[in-house]
Amino acid sequence: MVRWVSGHPTDATPLPELRTERLVLRPWVSTDLAAMAAMDSHPDVYEYLEGEPPGFDYSKEQREWICAPYGPGLGVWSIVSRQNHNHFIGLALLIPLGGKGPEIELGFRLVRAEWGRGMAQEAARAVIEHGFRLGLPKIVAVTDPNNLNSERTLRRLGFRRHGWRRAWGWRNHYFRLKRGRWLNSRPENDQTPEGRDGGPCARHSGLHDA
Ligand SMILES: CC(C)(COP(=O)(O)OP(=O)(O)OC[C@H]1O[C@@H](n2cnc3c(N)ncnc32)[C@H](O)[C@@H]1OP(=O)(O)O)[C@@H](O)C(=O)NCCC(=O)NCCS
Repeated sequence: MVRWVSGHPTDATPLPELRTERLVLRPWVSTDLAAMAAMDSHPDVYEYLEGEPPGFDYSKEQREWICAPYGPGLGVWSIVSRQNHNHFIGLALLIPLGGKGPEIELGFRLVRAEWGRGMAQEAARAVIEHGFRLGLPKIVAVTDPNNLNSERTLRRLGFRRHGWRRAWGWRNHYFRLKRGRWLNSRPENDQTPEGRDGGPCARHSGLHDA
């Protein structure tokens, strides 16, 4: 049984930990907020992401969307180095589109210094594999039309563009990856990213097994 000591109640949403060659994707926890804020303070990282309205409270707003109860197997992961779990690399997410759905959206965001090393693709592959194991028929993604880095990454993963979609308050390029296409395209030897059953993320944020 799990009991709360501190932290946000929805920190307990179970997500599996995913492992790749260089990365560990572990469920986001409240203590990742400082590293995330540092990542987001780089102008390149936030260039195409949602703007901040007056009175924006970063901690509160981020916690609210990250910790929302999106459903089993859905949520937000912190990406850390497999060699050093304290080395924060970025975020990956699999949540209802725009936080509302009904389609399920892939997203990623990396610390600026980690761009250009294939880390976003590596993390995204593990999340996609996880999503299709959940039984999703397709995974979608949306990007600002000028966000060419994100679009390149999506296309490398096999996503195809299908026009426009309004989400997160903006009109975005809309991408889709169908399960069949993914299963047919992935390398034979890359079918099973290492995963661990979802220890509650709250283990990292103050929860204890009672
Ligand atoms: C979108 C974002 C995550 C892409 O990061 P990225 O590091 O460029 O993405 P990838 O993992 O696809 O890496 C591709 C690059 O790594 C290079 N690379 C180096 N080693 C590699 C490897 N082992 N495997 C694959 N690519 C590798 C590729 O050549 C490519 O470089 P290029 O773009 O100069 O051709 C990053 O730009 C970002 O965080 N942007 C801000 C947040 C954002 O916009 N998120 C998307 C919202 S929809």
